[in-house]
Amino acid sequence: MGMRNSATQWGALAKSFHWMGAVLTIFLIAFGWWMIHMAERAERLANFGIHASIGYDLLLLIALRLCWRAIDRGPALPADLLRWEKGAAHLGHFLLYFLLFAVSVTGWMIVSSARRPIDASLLGFIPVPLLDRAGDKAFHDLAEDVHRYLSYTLLVLIVVHVAAALHHHFGKKNDILRRML
Ligand code: HEM
Ligand code: HEM
Repeated sequence: MGMRNSATQWGALAKSFHWMGAVLTIFLIAFGWWMIHMAERAERLANFGIHASIGYDLLLLIALRLCWRAIDRGPALPADLLRWEKGAAHLGHFLLYFLLFAVSVTGWMIVSSARRPIDASLLGFIPVPLLDRAGDKAFHDLAEDVHRYLSYTLLVLIVVHVAAALHHHFGKKNDILRRML
C-alpha cells in the first residue's frame, strides 16, 4: 500500500487521516457528553481543557486532511452505484466535513467567551488565540447551544455513515469498506 491514493484504493495517508479522525471524533462526543452529564463539577474546567485541546488537534487534522484531499483525490465510487446513491454519498461526506469544522469552531467560540479561562492548547503546547469575548454571556450561551446541537447531529450522521459502509460491505458486497481498511 503506497502513501498515495490509487484509482481503486485509498492510500496510507488518507486512511490514517480517516481513522485518526474517526477515533478523535468519537472520543470527543463521548467525553463531551460525559464531562457535562457525569463528571464532578469541581473537575469541569480541567475536563473542558482536555476536551478543547483534543478538539483543536482534530481541527488541525481535518485541515491537513482537506489539503491532502485537494492534492490527491480519492478513488471514484464504483460505477454500478445508482445516481442517487452517489449523490447521497457525496452529500453525506460533505456534511461530515462541514459538521466537524463547524463543531470545532463553535467549541473555540465557547472557550473564547468563558467566564473563567479554560486552559487548552494545540498539540499540548501551542497556544491558540481567542476571540475577544471573555464573559459575553449571550454569545457563550448561543455558542454552547449550537455546539451541542451540531455535535449530536454529527453523531446521527456518523451512525448513518457506518450503516452505509456496512451495507456496502455485507449487503452489496462491493469493496467500498475494504479499500478504506
Ligand atoms: C467517527 C467518525 C467518522 C467520520 C467523521 C468519517 C468521515 C468520513 C468522510 C468525511 C469520508 C469521505 C472521505 C473523502 O471522500 O474525502 C469517509 C469515507 C469513508 N468512511 Fe468514514 N468516517 C467515520 C467513521 C467511519 C467508520 C466507523 C467506518 C466503517 C465502519 C467508516 C467507513 C468509511 C468508508 C468505507 C469510507 C470510504 C468511502 C469511499 O471509498 O468512497 N467511516 N468517512
Ligand atoms: C468535532 C469536534 C468536537 C466534538 C464532536 C465536540 C463534542 C462535544 C459534546 C458532545 C459536548 C457536550 C454537549 C452537551 O451535552 O451539553 C461538548 C461540550 C463542550 N465542548 Fe466540544 N466538541 C468538539 C470540539 C470542541 C472544541 C474544538 C472545543 C474548544 C476549543 C470544545 C469545547 C467544548 C466545551 C467548552 C464544552 C462544554 C460546553 C458546555 O458547557 O455546555 N469542543 N463538545
